[in-house]
Amino acid sequence: MADVVVRFARQDEVKTLQDLNDEVFVDNSKYDPDLRLDWAQSVDGGQQYFTELVNNPDSICLIAEIDGEPVGYLAAGLKEFSYRLSKYVELENMGVSPQHRSSGIGTKLINRFYELAKERGYQRVYVNAYFLNNKAVEFYRRCGFSEIDISLEKAL
Ligand SMILES: CC(C)(COP(=O)(O)OP(=O)(O)OC[C@H]1O[C@@H](n2cnc3c(N)ncnc32)[C@H](O)[C@@H]1OP(=O)(O)O)[C@@H](O)C(=O)NCCC(=O)NCCS
Repeated sequence: MADVVVRFARQDEVKTLQDLNDEVFVDNSKYDPDLRLDWAQSVDGGQQYFTELVNNPDSICLIAEIDGEPVGYLAAGLKEFSYRLSKYVELENMGVSPQHRSSGIGTKLINRFYELAKERGYQRVYVNAYFLNNKAVEFYRRCGFSEIDISLEKAL
């Protein structure tokens, strides 16, 4: 594997994260017909979300890079489950550029995230994935996750 560096996203990297989000979730409209395709680049969507993320001390935002080029990222934050016992962190979204997948970068990102989350006192990680996104679900299973709930929705 090429030399992959995993590091914290800086506060001035909001645009990098917006661009990575667009790149890694290019397939998501296959799983979600209601997806807002302009979300990542929009001021009230991606820009606001990533700005809050990199400025929130409870959040963990990592970038993976090869030779200084960002090729993947992971975004996570505190998840309030007042009816459950543990302190939860939610893995809100993560991804690797399509041309760099299946070479261990996702695993490297998530393993670093586990270390940091433990250091910060989190006890359990929660993640949500599209039902039809088999590759992501398999990836999460391989990384130690197991099913806890299922989300359902219907159009009115
Ligand atoms: C899910 C996702 C993040 C996984 O990232 P990744 O970098 O491809 O993950 P890894 O390379 O660590 O592991 C994936 C595969 O590579 C294999 N692999 C891991 N390390 C490897 C290595 N050093 N050499 C060769 N193969 C390796 C794994 O066995 C695994 O096998 P698979 O190809 O059968 O799936 C990536 O597919 C992705 O970005 N998907 C789109 C976005 C998404 O769905 N995100 C999750 C929902 S929020």
